[in-house]
Amino acid sequence: MHEDQAAALRRMVNRPGWHRQTSPQPERRSRTIAVCSGKGGVGKSNVALNMSILLSAGGNRVALVDADMGLANLDVLIDVEILGDLSHVVAGTKRLDEIVVDLFCGVQLVAGASGLVRLTNLSEFQRIRLLDELSQLERDNEFILVDCAAGIGPDVLQFAAGADMVLVVTTPEPTAITDAYALIKVLTRRGFDGQISVLINQVDSRQEARATYQRIADVARRFLSVRVFDAGYVTEDPKVRQAVRRRESLVLAYPQCPASRCMAELVNKLSPNGALVGRKDGFFRRVVGLFS
Ligand SMILES: Nc1ncnc2c1ncn2[C@@H]1O[C@H](COP(=O)(O)OP(=O)(O)O)[C@@H](O)[C@H]1O
Ligand SMILES: [Mg+2]
Repeated sequence: MHEDQAAALRRMVNRPGWHRQTSPQPERRSRTIAVCSGKGGVGKSNVALNMSILLSAGGNRVALVDADMGLANLDVLIDVEILGDLSHVVAGTKRLDEIVVDLFCGVQLVAGASGLVRLTNLSEFQRIRLLDELSQLERDNEFILVDCAAGIGPDVLQFAAGADMVLVVTTPEPTAITDAYALIKVLTRRGFDGQISVLINQVDSRQEARATYQRIADVARRFLSVRVFDAGYVTEDPKVRQAVRRRESLVLAYPQCPASRCMAELVNKLSPNGALVGRKDGFFRRVVGLFS
């Protein structure tokens, strides 16, 4: 697509009427955290869900976007009825504000596409429409958590590249560590200039978490010259599985269990006065920019 065509599309999707009418905010305040992992099944969705609830409980407006196109499951994780998902937004049959579900905990959930919708398979028009609709979330929320697919596929990289922070979730297993490193490497090689943080999930002890983080941080520093931040850890806790089976969130079902306490520590580190610093322009606009 020609440059002028893309610009015209963008002008069109920016016209009033494409968006929910909300009062303009003087400055962008939203922080986007892309929750990623090299290996699948390491706990991303649980981390994203529980972080968003805790951030919301802390007085922040939070949106949680299920961007695991293909294996979207956040709505299943907490047993919420959805009115539509991102595939409808892509198809143009629903607008974002029609599919956003306000969870009782104050989090705005955007359900992921149930079918195989790949950003890279969309037409430029569909991509711009999707990302432009999503950019509305930045006006209404201080935090946007994006639950990404595992691995280093093009969709993940697009979402991650625009985020203020990529939170790389891994377990202490060597295969998960290797894949986490591969993700950090690809992000770095592609010039990602946001913050990369590592969260070690399902650890037996603080020492194990520390050693795992250190291993990843050392290799990243030596071979990629990149600083990887320590987001902390979540202990292996049977309550996580129980919450998943009950289709409830861990932090609301078992607020005092060890894993919930770890989640709270993680969120404390990321709160507005904490380590996370947002970039000047918006997340989804940056993602759109990456395509043009
Ligand atoms: N800290 C933990 N302790 C025990 N089990 C966990 C923990 N974190 C995740 N799990 C288990 O791993 C499963 C996969 O987690 P999930 O968040 O769906 O991973 P992902 O989104 O990375 O695929 C969960 O359903 C749960 O059974
Ligand atoms: Mg998941």
